[in-house]
Order: sequence, then C-alpha cells, then structure tokens
Amino acid sequence: MIPVTKPFLPSQEEYQRHLNAIWNRQWLTNNGPLVNELETRLKEYLDTSNVLFLANGTLALQIAVKVFDLKGEVITTPFSYVATTSAIVWENCRPVFVDIDAETFNIDPSKIEEAITEDTTAILATHVFGNACDIDAIKTIADKHNLHVIYDAAHCFGTKYKNKTVFEYGDVSTASFHATKLFHTIEGGAVFCQDNELADKMGLLRNFGHTSPVTFGSVGINAKNSEFHAAMGLCCLDHIDDILVTRKTQWQRYESLLRAEKRIQLLKITPGCEFNYAYFPIVLQDEAQLNKVTAALNLQYVQPRRYFYPSLNNLSYVKQQPCPVSESISERVICLPLYHSLRKEDQDMITRVIIKNL
Ligand SMILES: Cc1ncc(COP(=O)(O)O)c(C=O)c1O
Repeated sequence: MIPVTKPFLPSQEEYQRHLNAIWNRQWLTNNGPLVNELETRLKEYLDTSNVLFLANGTLALQIAVKVFDLKGEVITTPFSYVATTSAIVWENCRPVFVDIDAETFNIDPSKIEEAITEDTTAILATHVFGNACDIDAIKTIADKHNLHVIYDAAHCFGTKYKNKTVFEYGDVSTASFHATKLFHTIEGGAVFCQDNELADKMGLLRNFGHTSPVTFGSVGINAKNSEFHAAMGLCCLDHIDDILVTRKTQWQRYESLLRAEKRIQLLKITPGCEFNYAYFPIVLQDEAQLNKVTAALNLQYVQPRRYFYPSLNNLSYVKQQPCPVSESISERVICLPLYHSLRKEDQDMITRVIIKNL
C-alpha cells in the first residue's frame, strides 16, 4: 500500500533515550523539561520570536482567535482543511469566504477589500500546502482597515517568505505538528507571534488561565502538550534537515515527470516564497477524470487524497457564499503520496498510471 502520507519515525533507540529520562523524572506533562527544550530548539531552528507548543493545530487556531477576543466577521479562505473554518465558528465568529487565486490556491488578496464590512475584525488565511500567501498584499489591506491577521500555517514547517520563516508573519501564526506533517510530534501544534505580551496571554489561554496555582488571569483551556509528544518532536528535529532535503528531491521528481503534461495543473509557488515542498497537489480537468485517475491508482494500491474537498464555503453550518474558483479546484484536486520513505520507483509508477488514465 502506498498511502498519501506516512509519518516519519526516528529509531526506537532515539525515542527510548527520552523515555528513560521521563521515567527517571516522573514528570509527564505540565510544562516539563522536554516541552521547554522543544520550544527552545524550535525557536532557534526557525529563528522565531515566540513559540508555544500546544496539543494540536486546531486548538492553536482557537487560541489565536480567542486572544484577540474576535467578534463578528472573520475573512477567510474556502480552500483549506475544515479546522480553519470550524475554529472561527467554534469561537462564535462568522466566516466570510473570499475566493482563492487559481494558481497558488491561496486567498486572493484582490478580492478581500470588497468583502470587508463594519463587522469585519480579522483575516484568517491559510498558506495552503505550505505555499505562502501574498503576505505583503494582505498586510497592506489589514493595516488600512485595522484588522488582525492570523495565518493558519499548519502545513508550513520550513517555509520561508522573503528570507524569514513564514511563522513570523501576521499577528499570530499557527502550526500543526500532527503525525501527517513534515515535522511532527504525533499530535501537536503551536502558535507563533512577535509580540511578547501576546505570547504571555496565549500562555494563559493554553493553561486554564493559571497565573499561579490558586489565581487565574483569564479564561483558559487545556491546550498543553506532554513530555511524550515533545520527545517525538525532539527526535524529529534531529532529522529535519534530511527530511526537508528528501522532500524537495521527491517533489522535484514528480514535477519533472508531470511538467510536460498539459492536462494537469501543478501548484504555482508564490513569488517570494521559499517552499517546503510539503504536498504535491495535481488539478485534473474535471471530477470524472479525478475519479478515473484515483480508481486506476487504487488498483495499484496507491491512495491519493482529496485535499481539500469540499470547498469550505459549502459546509452545512456556514452561510453559503459562492466561491467559484475554490469550488472548481476542490472538485478536481488530489494530493499524490509524499513521505520520507517514498521510493523513486513508486513515484515513477504513480506518474505513469496518472498519465495513462487522463
Ligand atoms: C490547514 C490546516 N489547519 C489546521 C489543521 C488542524 O491541525 P491538527 O490536526 O493538528 O488539529 C490542519 C490539519 O491537518 C490543517 O491541514
């Protein structure tokens, strides 16, 4: 079976070393030494101002919305994983969908201003597939209308924009460290921000609002993560350069094998973005072709995935708003298998099957 993704796993010995230390200390969670070490090493590796390690990327989004006490309307992308929208709705805000760019698949900044009303409080955009949004254009609009900017950077470990990690942009950026991601902690996520006070506030939100064992500075939730998850993160960080280089090589192999095929649309990388090669989406001509290609791949025990379907503006629990570009891409896009141990021969076979079945 060739699934769309497989988690990277360090050797058991590497993980065991951390387990031995956990057993010795008997400190399993609540801001333990491995959580602290992971945050420090992430900060160094990514060169970011503040990072808080969290239980998952969905809570990271919820905390980002909560910390600004957002109300009213939040402008967002319809082309993302469902967590981007559900975090907005969960925090009692209304998602307002702005259609995407047909080539980068990210929110189209030229359509944002017409969606702004007096109820708009923020823009929450996803750097989808690890490809940065047009960050400068979004910042210009946000500054002009005094809006907060939150980036769902769930896919973005290793992505840079204008020579800086993409996590340094926006008022807050969120990441997912789920097992399917390039860098993972089994389950996990993070919020990043430049402002120290904001980081302190998010720290309170992460830990029930505790300012001491008996005092509470704000409402809070349990978004902490454990020593066991931090241990996996530390092991994966030891291999991250190799993971990123391998991913780039694999991505470029798919690209070289499919570039000449005009019936398939490939992702356009945003100008200024140093891509992390996290996903390899292909857009087919229509849904019938997508089904045909998928069935042919399944026959060879290959499982591509429909990332992202449906277009989020069509979710049952949001006010439906037309987003024709996102709807069209959503109906036609699949991501090809991409993971550290994927073999060249498998990539060659996958592309052969695709081309034969167009
Ligand atoms: C774009 C995006 N945002 C948010 C999430 C949620 O992250 P998590 O699964 O860590 O809660 C995901 C998960 O895959 C995602 O793809």
